[in-house]
Amino acid sequence: MSSTTDASAGRAEITARTLRTDRWWLPPLVTFAGLSAWVLYATVRAFLQRDYFVAEYNYLTPFYSPCASVGCVEQAAHFGRILPDVWWLPYAAFTLPFLLLFRLTCYYYRKAYYRSFWLSPPACAVAEPHRRYSGETRYPLLAQNLHRYFFYAAAIISLINTYDAVLAFGKADGSFGLGLGNVIIVVNVVFLWAYTISCHSCRSIIGGRLNHFSKHPLRYKSWQFVSRLNTKHMQLAWITLGTLALTDFYIMAVAAGWISDLRIVG
Ligand code: FES
Repeated sequence: MSSTTDASAGRAEITARTLRTDRWWLPPLVTFAGLSAWVLYATVRAFLQRDYFVAEYNYLTPFYSPCASVGCVEQAAHFGRILPDVWWLPYAAFTLPFLLLFRLTCYYYRKAYYRSFWLSPPACAVAEPHRRYSGETRYPLLAQNLHRYFFYAAAIISLINTYDAVLAFGKADGSFGLGLGNVIIVVNVVFLWAYTISCHSCRSIIGGRLNHFSKHPLRYKSWQFVSRLNTKHMQLAWITLGTLALTDFYIMAVAAGWISDLRIVG
């Protein structure tokens, strides 16, 4: 067999790291900057433990949902207050680790951070700086296979976010209310669902283990729908980072008194 088809032949014998002359470094650099900025913002907000709830309109930021610390405002703690109020424990410590693991093990984010943080490789036809490559065949990266379980957790958390969005239509005095905050919260929840169900694991759960789609028309229709969404998974991954940050920032701004909520009804 020719040596060019032998897997052990490795990389072509060229001294240059790459022969590409385009700006191949730009996408990984933008991804690195975008993800780093988001993680920094989310970390600061998760530990801030203030300006997470607008009592008058029942707006709760998704970064604090469910608010489960004894430090939470009682009105914001829809599922009880169990966690101790200490600075190093986010008020939503029950859900944030699962959301983090869901995104960390997401097929799209894996590609994004393997390329932009580990440079493994940074782009097609660009050699990576590491000597050895074992992919996801060993620990700790073998744990990426747990993604499907984090999908179930994320689906439950999306249900909780939906519950928060519904509650936000009721004002503190019990009357119906609608403001810009509601619109932002609902848009965020819709995109969170779109991102969650466009997950590759969701697609496999819905359409997998079937021999005949014709005998399962409902699952076939669902699988077709999820498959169409799945083609937009990368875009949804970024859009939801944006809607999450926007929702949190808007609620923080109203809660802190920097701006007033734009009211449409009530
Ligand atoms: S593959 Fe991205 S969330 Fe599952």
